[in-house]
Amino acid sequence: MRVGYVQTKPVFGKKKDNLDQAVELIDKTDADLLVLPELFSTGYYFPSKARLMQLAEEIPSGKTVRTFKNLARKKNCHFVFGMAEKKGSRAYNSSVYVTPHGKIYLYRKLQLFYKEATVFARGNLKPKVFPFYEYKLGMMICFDYMFPEICRVMALAGADLICHPSNLVLEYCQLANRTRSLENRVFIIMSNRVGEDTAFGETLKFTGMSQITSPDGSVLARGPKTKPALSVTDIDMQDSRQKKPTPYNHVLNDRRPGFYRDLL
Ligand code: ACM
Repeated sequence: MRVGYVQTKPVFGKKKDNLDQAVELIDKTDADLLVLPELFSTGYYFPSKARLMQLAEEIPSGKTVRTFKNLARKKNCHFVFGMAEKKGSRAYNSSVYVTPHGKIYLYRKLQLFYKEATVFARGNLKPKVFPFYEYKLGMMICFDYMFPEICRVMALAGADLICHPSNLVLEYCQLANRTRSLENRVFIIMSNRVGEDTAFGETLKFTGMSQITSPDGSVLARGPKTKPALSVTDIDMQDSRQKKPTPYNHVLNDRRPGFYRDLL
């Protein structure tokens, strides 16, 4: 399976330019699945709920989903991307999975980062896994990586591959995702952005280094720190079905939840 990340440089509020930039990067690529960053069509740092509601879109009728639904069909490629979702009077920091056949699946960020909770509603959907050929795909968004429960429950639900749209400003995710991959024996495709956003009198600088990790915790691809990039890697999805780090151990079946469930 040919899978990859699209590392873009969004400019806050310039939706058309941000979509064009992503489509242009993708245009000459041949892949089965590509992952884009969190909030890639709007930018990240919303100064107010009012500005967020101006830029957020309904799913599936908004421009971002329509653009990628068409691209998925044209390129025969699956896409996962982060976007601002408008739902009634609320906005969610969401991730959308679109297939070449026009199916659309949704995840809403559960663990909001830093000042996000001043504008976004917290996600209200249970993490789920969705079909990707004969395999299963899950989604998390950026700061969710700090909470190992998210990857674990998706692995227990059968995830082979976790797609991770991100807008990272801290330096821990690349390391943490190696562990998330290893402890669950799953692939993770993390797509980060580059560039900067300014709001609340401060500038956030996004750190690039998008990354694909394999079920043995190794890094299969890593993006540059400051430039847009696209990388596609051939993976054998069967590797995520091999859950045994030794012939005597199984990362899911050897858990002892009877001893710690009450503490969760
Ligand atoms: C983040 O959750 N955007 C760091």
